[in-house]
Amino acid sequence: MRSHRIIPLALLCATIVLPWTPARAQSPPVAPVTAGAAVFKEHCSRCHDDNATRQSYGPSLAGIIGRKAATQEGFAYSDALKSSGLVWTEEAVRAWIANNTGLLPGTRMRHVGITDPGEQDTLLAYLKSLTK
Ligand code: HEC
Repeated sequence: MRSHRIIPLALLCATIVLPWTPARAQSPPVAPVTAGAAVFKEHCSRCHDDNATRQSYGPSLAGIIGRKAATQEGFAYSDALKSSGLVWTEEAVRAWIANNTGLLPGTRMRHVGITDPGEQDTLLAYLKSLTK
């Protein structure tokens, strides 16, 4: 029978090919907070402190989710943000990182445009993990 010869050949191919599959495909998925930290580093850490718990060019973002806008003590906020009445719910933060200058003309924060929902999810997970 022909198939007797084909099956061992297929197995041989599999043992040769499998060890070469990229390691990435087998590693566990990256935790959202870790992925969010990378997004933060790339898009926010220039102006918000690296772990975002200290004030730098931008205010500290520790405990930001649920906080009223422009309430970090000692930070010189724009009038626009001070009088915005915004509360940083998840939805507000999503709208802010998608298009902050569109949401609030006059803000001192330069435009960022993180519109990818997956990136927003991980960034939110990271922001939630920040405590003082
Ligand atoms: C170019 C500098 C810069 C970048 C980049 C930047 N920010 Fe900001 N951010 C600021 C400044 C300045 C303010 C204060 C804005 C104001 O007073 O109008 C601010 C304010 C904020 C606030 C409101 C804080 C409060 O206390 O009400 C949030 C939330 C925020 N930024 C999140 C982010 C996130 C998340 C990123 C990355 C996606 C980011 N920012 C990127 C400079 C920046």
